[in-house]
Amino acid sequence: MLEVKNITKMFGGLAALKGVSLTVETGKITSLIGPNGAGKTTLFNIIAGSLKPDSGEIIFLETNSCTRKPPYEICQLGIARTYQLRNIFPNLSVYENIYAGLLKEHHYNLQEHEQRIRDILSFLGLSEKASRPVISLAPLEMKFVELGRALATKPKLLLLDELLGGLIGPETLQICEIVEELRSKGYTILQIGHEIKPIMRTSDWIYVLNEGEKVAEGTSDSIRQNEEVLNIYLELEE
Ligand SMILES: Nc1ncnc2c1ncn2[C@@H]1O[C@H](COP(=O)(O)OP(=O)(O)OP(=O)(O)O)[C@@H](O)[C@H]1O
Ligand SMILES: [Mg+2]
Repeated sequence: MLEVKNITKMFGGLAALKGVSLTVETGKITSLIGPNGAGKTTLFNIIAGSLKPDSGEIIFLETNSCTRKPPYEICQLGIARTYQLRNIFPNLSVYENIYAGLLKEHHYNLQEHEQRIRDILSFLGLSEKASRPVISLAPLEMKFVELGRALATKPKLLLLDELLGGLIGPETLQICEIVEELRSKGYTILQIGHEIKPIMRTSDWIYVLNEGEKVAEGTSDSIRQNEEVLNIYLELEE
């Protein structure tokens, strides 16, 4: 579904990404892991169009180059995202926040739109809270609202940046279940994560970035035993 080819991105003298390539298979959960500053979010920003790469190319659905398109065009093509740092409208209601995902639509169809939002609210367990201001929700529910807004754009590919970040154990499990359910509904997922166990549990394929470079890729089992990966994570614990 997505091909990231040889992407390089400099911030002044800092190479945040050094020729990174990866592919995302349709219908799979692909994960991007790696230490702080590895370049994970930078790559998401480039895929979603909020940053332009210095070189390299991104191909979506085989024919669409989305390398230098603005974010709204990339969203129109079928890529939606959530953010590492919370990015919702705190004083708007849950319903209104999710509705924001519909603003990309060229045609206004009140009935279809209302039904779509109701389905998303129900899927995320937020139906009872539809009219509550988002600021009054628990952190996990706020994550669901952001995911709901992304779903409202009817994406084919979902980019989830640290959806698990800052949550406690049972909440992590809930998010994992939702992500797996999304895969079974036919969505393709590219997720970034720090919490290694849940990422290992849910991923069909994992890429490991370190200091702007891809250092490993494989299934959870092979990544778990990859010496270079173990060294990177052990160094962090020292
Ligand atoms: N807009 C920016 N301007 C300058 N430097 C940046 C910018 N965005 C990111 N960086 C730098 O690029 C590098 C990669 O950052 P990035 O946020 O992509 O890492 P990350 O892998 O997402 O890390 P984390 O796990 O902490 O979220 C870091 O050194 C960061 O400080
Ligand atoms: Mg990040």
